[in-house]
Amino acid sequence: MASGEIQTEAAQLNPVIEPLSWMLGTWLSDPPGDGTFPSMKPFQYLEEVHISHVGQPMLNFSFNAFHPDTKKPMHRECGFIRIQPDTNKVAFISAQNTGLVEVEEGVVNGQELSIASHSVARISFAKKPHVEQITRKFRLNSEGKLEQTVSMSTTTQPMTQHLHITYKKV
Ligand code: HEM
Repeated sequence: MASGEIQTEAAQLNPVIEPLSWMLGTWLSDPPGDGTFPSMKPFQYLEEVHISHVGQPMLNFSFNAFHPDTKKPMHRECGFIRIQPDTNKVAFISAQNTGLVEVEEGVVNGQELSIASHSVARISFAKKPHVEQITRKFRLNSEGKLEQTVSMSTTTQPMTQHLHITYKKV
């Protein structure tokens, strides 16, 4: 490494995050994701996902959604996925452009990660209705595609699916 250069490229995978290594990569929705909720019209969206590491015992992620026709940016979130060493216990920490910050906890079993919100915080002027709980499932399917399903409850609706999306690795 040249003097003064900060090197994070091609860092060796920290063995602690090996159980989550199937999530690593750049992923693009294929086909577009499906959005649903009892209070809204079903919609579709595109999403680009980057899940990376820099040698630390955690993953870094960003999820950036776009309108399928106009390609305008929509929902965005980024954060970290941590795993408790020597266990399958996972924490998912995300900051969203809607003014919401969430911490989810759960477990990784094989190529499936199931998590549920432990706490959800938001800025005081976040749009209503407010989210009360979130659950997510990620899995690598038999075709090598990553899938994410997100359900939520709000101050006006019980726990219901909001998103389902499949991504191919690019
Ligand atoms: C609406 C939460 C991710 C697109 C909403 C609503 C909530 C919410 C609380 C209002 C529901 C209602 O009016 O009853 C979340 C959470 C997310 C998430 C917690 C992530 C964990 C996404 C993503 C997209 C998206 C990835 C993709 C574009 C929409 C749209 C609406 C909506 C189009 C309806 C219009 C609007 O209220 O802006 N979401 N959302 N959401 N969400 Fe999400």
